[in-house]
Amino acid sequence: MIIDLPNGNPVAGARSAADVGRRFHAERTCVQHEERKTAFLTGASRGIGHATAKLFSEAGWRIISCARQPFDGGRCPWESGADDHLQVDLSDHRMLPRAIAEVKKRLAGAPLHALINNAGISPKTSDGARLTSLTTSIETWMRVFHLNLVAPILLAQGLLDELKAASGSIVNVTSIAGSRVHPFAGSAYATSKAALASLTREMAHDYAPHGIRVNAIAPGEIKTDMLSPDTEARLVPNIPLRRVGAPEEVAKVIFFLCSDAASYVTGTEMPINGGQHL
Ligand SMILES: NC(=O)c1ccc[n+]([C@@H]2O[C@H](COP(=O)([O-])OP(=O)(O)OC[C@H]3O[C@@H](n4cnc5c(N)ncnc54)[C@H](OP(=O)(O)O)[C@@H]3O)[C@@H](O)[C@H]2O)c1
Repeated sequence: MIIDLPNGNPVAGARSAADVGRRFHAERTCVQHEERKTAFLTGASRGIGHATAKLFSEAGWRIISCARQPFDGGRCPWESGADDHLQVDLSDHRMLPRAIAEVKKRLAGAPLHALINNAGISPKTSDGARLTSLTTSIETWMRVFHLNLVAPILLAQGLLDELKAASGSIVNVTSIAGSRVHPFAGSAYATSKAALASLTREMAHDYAPHGIRVNAIAPGEIKTDMLSPDTEARLVPNIPLRRVGAPEEVAKVIFFLCSDAASYVTGTEMPINGGQHL
């Protein structure tokens, strides 16, 4: 059964194979002739989020971003960046209704094609060691879970109508630490990412009837501020590709999952780790 949306686009799951092929090639070759797509991306100021915003923006997407810091036009070259940036602490769930209202205000009735839940924290001890399940304070547990797990739930719920209008897609950024004990990532971080991976499965099921796909990506060791100084020396010898990853290599997979090339992909968690989990 084909379900028509207000903009006349059929819901992703209801497309014919020929239509899927046409849309994929159109997306690769002439983004500018299609309706301009919009992504809301959390944590776009640095690291993986920054590389992702840059890639989407180069592909013609409008980026609505958020972080705790103000927009830095020198580092973030995408168009209307300052106007489309929200300065918000997503680890405080009381801020979420306002953040959602601000995103809606900027969309002004336009559809949202992608929600990328990328912002995350991985607290460590003052000397960089991992915080274990014996040594993590309750405040840290709550802060980590609010940012890494609760914010993605609330943002997706709050932006359901806008995502539905676009047959959009959600990407949750999990971690290799969600499925194994990691030498640097702490227990609160690891369990929040495991929960986010489970949440991705639940959301994929619940959002599919609305034409929205939900996937996760699970990076391994990616060269950003989050990486511990000893990572390369200690972990690279055990990574089959013998190097850490670049944020741009993660961005490309996120882009794939948000594109029409992944129109039948939902509920997956895609590892991006040079074979580290093998
Ligand atoms: N790097 C890795 O090796 C690796 C591996 C596995 C998974 N990941 C995951 O990938 C995602 C991005 O990590 P990254 O390495 O790119 O980290 P990063 O370089 O530390 O960047 C984190 C981003 O999140 C924002 N952010 C942090 N706390 C926030 C808050 N409370 N409210 C709003 N925004 C906040 C930061 O901006 P502000 O500081 O301005 O708020 C920044 O833009 C995270 O979910 C992380 O868990 C990373």
